[in-house]
Amino acid sequence: MMEISRSSIRGALDTRRDIVMMLAKQGYQLEPEALDLICSYPGSKDDLISSIIGQMDRSVAVIRAFQVSSLLDSTDAPGALLERSSALPASCTSSMRAAAELKCDITGRSTCVGDYDDFVRYFRDRYTKIREMLSRRLNARPIESLGKSTAGREVSLIGMVMDVHTTAKGNRVIELEDPTGLIVAVIQKDAQIYEQSSNILPDEVLGMTGTSDGNGRLFVKSLMWPDIPNRTAPLEVGSGCALFLSDLHVGSKYFMDDAWQRFIQWLNGQVEDPSGLASQVKYVVIAGDLVDGIGVYPGQEGDLAIKDIYAQYEAAAERINAIRNDVSVIISPGNHDIVRQAEPQPALPETVQKYFREGGLFVGNPAWVTLGGVSVLIYHGRSIDDLVLRLPGISYAAPEKAMVEMLKRRHLSPIYGSRVSIAPEHEDHYVISRPPAILHCGHVHTVGITRYKGVAVINSGTWQSQTDFQKKMNIQPQPAVVPIVDLATMKVRKLIF
Ligand SMILES: [Fe+2]
Ligand SMILES: [Fe+2]
Repeated sequence: MMEISRSSIRGALDTRRDIVMMLAKQGYQLEPEALDLICSYPGSKDDLISSIIGQMDRSVAVIRAFQVSSLLDSTDAPGALLERSSALPASCTSSMRAAAELKCDITGRSTCVGDYDDFVRYFRDRYTKIREMLSRRLNARPIESLGKSTAGREVSLIGMVMDVHTTAKGNRVIELEDPTGLIVAVIQKDAQIYEQSSNILPDEVLGMTGTSDGNGRLFVKSLMWPDIPNRTAPLEVGSGCALFLSDLHVGSKYFMDDAWQRFIQWLNGQVEDPSGLASQVKYVVIAGDLVDGIGVYPGQEGDLAIKDIYAQYEAAAERINAIRNDVSVIISPGNHDIVRQAEPQPALPETVQKYFREGGLFVGNPAWVTLGGVSVLIYHGRSIDDLVLRLPGISYAAPEKAMVEMLKRRHLSPIYGSRVSIAPEHEDHYVISRPPAILHCGHVHTVGITRYKGVAVINSGTWQSQTDFQKKMNIQPQPAVVPIVDLATMKVRKLIF
């Protein structure tokens, strides 16, 4: 981010213009009084602006004075502002390593023991956060208020889907719950929204408008998912390029070491690179499954070239340590890695981190990081398995479509307790509290790239060729393809090695 808190000779006018420009770049306009407040802030204006950008909802176009002053009221010490940036819970950590910064993950602060209260708290947190997003657009009432007097009236509700099924007659029936009660929502077979309603997932939070029968039933006319605000421009920009990788599966006999060596030679400038692209790379982000692991699936021994998990990590570290020294490497785990299987997963343990060169950033799964000001939400992507099973039109061949569904639902893993085992932490770490500039997943071993309302959506494929199991299942992986993002323009391209 441009430094604006300098006590420069150019004086106050330039500082004002810089502030306006900086916020305009992020898509915000400023009320004059809000600008005065920022100018009169005695601490670092850079930190204050980061904090404003972090806390502001993307649907806000003009930042008002009261919004700045309420932020200032809630933080006295300038240091406090940094910790609060990015609209994440105050418990989130903020530690600077190289130019990449960890904003939030689970590492070292798991709270759950898995009792009943934990589940209640987890779902309450999910409901409260997503309700907040929906209630800006939907004037919903509590379910308990739908008594006899509401018979025949149009009402709106925001609830969590307890169950969704289709009856023998073909009508769709949804049990919708909020903290005050439960209602049966009905979508008739001939309703206009019938097709759209095939996208309703269990456990997700959504809004509905329809006619109450005054007796615990709602005949639904329209559905509303939280979604992210409409926008075409990139959410944030930075400088340099970032590479997105995942699913190396080092230790598997299918790991494509030759392709990896070609990639390293290119990145380290050892081969012709007329475009000079390699030299612009500042970051490498890895979204899990560094190694193949041990005992992840039945009969895995036969697929392993390295049968010791620590030896697998030593081999993986050797490959990653070969990356040019000035590139920051960010490593998040996946379901083949040596961390707890229940998500959210903490960062790789110290015993494994020590194999890697100094300065790497080890984060949990999921994790929010920033690459020189550009926010990246990293999630290994196990929930894509659930979304492929449940949603019409979603397949492994186009994982980016499943990722767009996550953004629409503002949740990385909407279905609870299917393929993904989610530990009921007190806070739902899977809620997408604000749109990231980049959403990065892996896990499915196919490459998918798209842009959705300004968010760059990337699934980074794999470095493992087709396994026997995948051949039997007719799964076609796309190995050794690297999505590259030019952080200045947020354009994404694919490099093939
Ligand atoms: Fe994988
Ligand atoms: Fe995976």
